[in-house]
Amino acid sequence: MIEQVTAERVKHARGVERLISGQFVTDGAGVRINRVLTHALQRRLDPFLMLDAFGSDKPGDYIAGFPEHPHRGFETISYMLAGSMRHRDSAGNEGLITDGGVQWMTAGRGVAHSEMPEQTDGLMEGFQLWLNLPAKDKMTAPWYRDIPDAEVPRFETSGGATVKVIAGASHGVAGAVQRAHTEPLYLDVHLAANATFEQLLPPGHNAFIYVYRGQVVVDEQNVPQTKMAILKNDPAADGVRIVAAQPSRLILIAGQPLGEPIAQHGPFVMNTQQELIEAVEDFRSGRLTAA
Ligand code: FE2
Repeated sequence: MIEQVTAERVKHARGVERLISGQFVTDGAGVRINRVLTHALQRRLDPFLMLDAFGSDKPGDYIAGFPEHPHRGFETISYMLAGSMRHRDSAGNEGLITDGGVQWMTAGRGVAHSEMPEQTDGLMEGFQLWLNLPAKDKMTAPWYRDIPDAEVPRFETSGGATVKVIAGASHGVAGAVQRAHTEPLYLDVHLAANATFEQLLPPGHNAFIYVYRGQVVVDEQNVPQTKMAILKNDPAADGVRIVAAQPSRLILIAGQPLGEPIAQHGPFVMNTQQELIEAVEDFRSGRLTAA
């Protein structure tokens, strides 16, 4: 069942600071990805470290998948719009994410996992977001949850928006996952033609949208398909207003910045160089994934 809610009212909407096109990269064993949130934006979009968008119906772009690799110090959130991907990790978790499903993994002190397509043709489309952990939680025990599409909370507004709440809360609907420290909000918003969606956002939270179908307008700025718009942190603004002239789909992501040093070496994200050296040593010696 889908909940019907009254649209929230934003009094003073955030504007767009800039549009980002992303960079096409090859990752894993040869998977073609649009890296939308790159290393250069980690400070600006703290607590988010990376956003990859993938979408292809050519098996050669995704079939090689992501064979086993380690992570430490943050969380990975995979959201599959279309396709099937199997996850296996060193903490003993295994799951299949399929159309519309979410996989939330806290790497914490260490996980080695593989993410492999379980399809040989057809469309594979989705996102992987990396959410940083506060220093005090970087060495926490790994955690993992698969959330099938049917279990992701959702609602419809009178303004023509259908929204899946992956994390945080929107219009009184609590999302599938909550995180106290960074208060991440992760919404998948589908807009009918001429629909408007308003979302309240704390002014200090860093926020962005990525449009994956159609085109929307945020504060008179066009945001076309495959573009990310970084929303301004305006102390006077209480949210964002998104208008679609045509049917459109986007993800809206926001969170409380950590304001801590970010030290990254590939799949390890810590606070200092020394901690990165320890992560590499722990990985080489097998301690990274030891219980
Ligand atoms: Fe991974």
